[in-house]
Amino acid sequence: MVFAATVLYLFLHFPSRTEAGAELVGEVCQYSRHYQSCVQTLTSHPQTFSAPNGKAIAEKALELARKESVHTSDFFTGSAHKNPASKPVLQKCASNFKQAVQFLNLSGLEGGTASLDVHYALDLAEYCRDALSSGRVQIDLATARVQKWTAVYDAAQATVVFLEN
Ligand SMILES: *[C@@H]1O[C@H](CO)[C@@H](O)[C@H](O)[C@H]1NC(C)=O
Repeated sequence: MVFAATVLYLFLHFPSRTEAGAELVGEVCQYSRHYQSCVQTLTSHPQTFSAPNGKAIAEKALELARKESVHTSDFFTGSAHKNPASKPVLQKCASNFKQAVQFLNLSGLEGGTASLDVHYALDLAEYCRDALSSGRVQIDLATARVQKWTAVYDAAQATVVFLEN
């Protein structure tokens, strides 16, 4: 609903810009492993949807991914307080996502290593996922949080690969 309303709003207000935005998002998401989810993520945020070019959309998508990492880290910090039995694992996840923030930037662009650099953030998310499963921590909200992070990450990663190609 929110997605459809946003698209409709943008379409009514900025018809030509919307067409350009939808076209850029479509091109970028060819580089994603999850095309539909990528399109949905990039079109549901006005900052990415209205980005005029590849560099701008990558910068905005990485900014979203950094914010999502901070939220996810904060979630795990809060969760560690509420679940004393799983505290070490949850704290580890909080620290993994906090570290992920620094890898979500375009500093490797000149050397053509940006997409590899960004990939470190995914490794960190996987350390957390592994810690949760080997620690047998089953918290639905945590799983949902990591899934949401992954959707935003995948879209941001696609923008970086698009730029490199
Ligand atoms: C950008 O990413 C690189 C590696 O991916 C990292 O070493 C660097 O600290 C990051 N820069 C900032 C400003 O976060």
